[in-house]
Amino acid sequence: MKKRSTFGSTFGTVAVVGGSVIGLGNIWRFPYIAGQNGGAAFILIYICVALLISVPIMLSEFSIGRAAQSNSMRAYAKVSGRKGWQAIGYLGIATAFTILSFYSVIAGWGLEFIKESFTGEFMSMDAGQIKANFDAFVGTGWQPILWSTLFIVGTAFIVGTGVEKGIERFNKYAMPLMFLILVVMAVNSVTLSGFKEGAAFLLKPDFSKVTIRTVLTAMGQSFFSLSLGMGIMVTYGSYIRTGRNMFGIAGTVTVADTCIAILSGLAIFPAVFSFGINPTSGPDLVFLTLPNIFAQMAGGQVFSVMFFVLLFVASITSSVSLLEVVVAWVHEEFKLKRRAATAVVGFGALCLAVLCCLSQMPDSALRVGSLDIFTFFDKLTSLYMIPVGGFLVVIFAGWIVKKKLMRDEMTTYGRYGTSLFDIVYPLVKFVIPIIIAALFLNELGLFKW
Ligand code: PFF
Repeated sequence: MKKRSTFGSTFGTVAVVGGSVIGLGNIWRFPYIAGQNGGAAFILIYICVALLISVPIMLSEFSIGRAAQSNSMRAYAKVSGRKGWQAIGYLGIATAFTILSFYSVIAGWGLEFIKESFTGEFMSMDAGQIKANFDAFVGTGWQPILWSTLFIVGTAFIVGTGVEKGIERFNKYAMPLMFLILVVMAVNSVTLSGFKEGAAFLLKPDFSKVTIRTVLTAMGQSFFSLSLGMGIMVTYGSYIRTGRNMFGIAGTVTVADTCIAILSGLAIFPAVFSFGINPTSGPDLVFLTLPNIFAQMAGGQVFSVMFFVLLFVASITSSVSLLEVVVAWVHEEFKLKRRAATAVVGFGALCLAVLCCLSQMPDSALRVGSLDIFTFFDKLTSLYMIPVGGFLVVIFAGWIVKKKLMRDEMTTYGRYGTSLFDIVYPLVKFVIPIIIAALFLNELGLFKW
């Protein structure tokens, strides 16, 4: 039998998992979600959710994957001995596929900004012009379609040729570089006039905006940011070598992910206040404020190119993991060659991405209720599909899989974190399912806090 691939070094493992978790969720999504949900108060809740809920789920997914040594679909059946549990795999696949569609649209915006950074288009614009320019770009429909097509083709190319060596090596350089750039940008924002206001917004909690929905939003964001609830960490877990410390990997990745999200906030909010943009403005926040900063900065154009290239790198390493989960399933279950499976899935994702782009044109009829399809997919996945996926994973790990198997995998047969296991396991078995279920029922109006 062909030997199953594994990640090379520990650093390589962290870099590849980091490649999946660090992406648009940190740089694009986190700042505006934090902005809309009360800033610092949201961040505090977010950190608690990450430690208490997300890390145990990540450890559970890793353990299931490493025990099963197979793709996420089969893993649930293999570890439980019952086929019905593959349903969790199906839900994950549907979620990853849906995310991929709107994720590619945003990554496509990033590509447009690489082009605009090179041409220096927005360097001479003021805040109002930058907004008008961006709205006009999104409003054309065809331009975002073109860029997202390019992005999906690029992602498909990597997935089609196999991700391991290229991605692992690529991530080892790309991740630290991205971190460095963000630090420099955050430091630069200290010099802006709105720094005090921006930093206060991020660091001084105002709990008046916090509701139960805020906790659900923080959880949805945390799961999205850490690529949880859709089988990605099950698949990656299967590539983690038997001797590796799962707690170390999950901890490092979570801390890095949270730091990068907060750093993005620190780079962005002072600019938001300096340029008089509303901190609660939605998904286009990064694409309005960052060009603004670059237009004012010494050497802004170079910085701008670098930043949007890095945004692209961060997003493509994440979208590869999204596409990979679906492709692995089509490839194995429908016995299609890897390249053919990639082409089919990539084309499907592209069709959905086109719908997302068209739905954002002015007066588009492509709406679900009051939301355009793009926003609908974002909310559907992060508020509903991902939390349900996370819920099913902990039910599976806590109640279906034998405790001994979880302990052996999570602690690497008693080598690492045995006392941490005694904290994590009850969280997985009792606390997390209750919290997710309560938040969820509250959201559906079936249970009032
Ligand atoms: N975690 C990625 C981000 O923060 O951008 C996005 C993502 C990748 C979500 C993979 C889900 C996923 F399965």
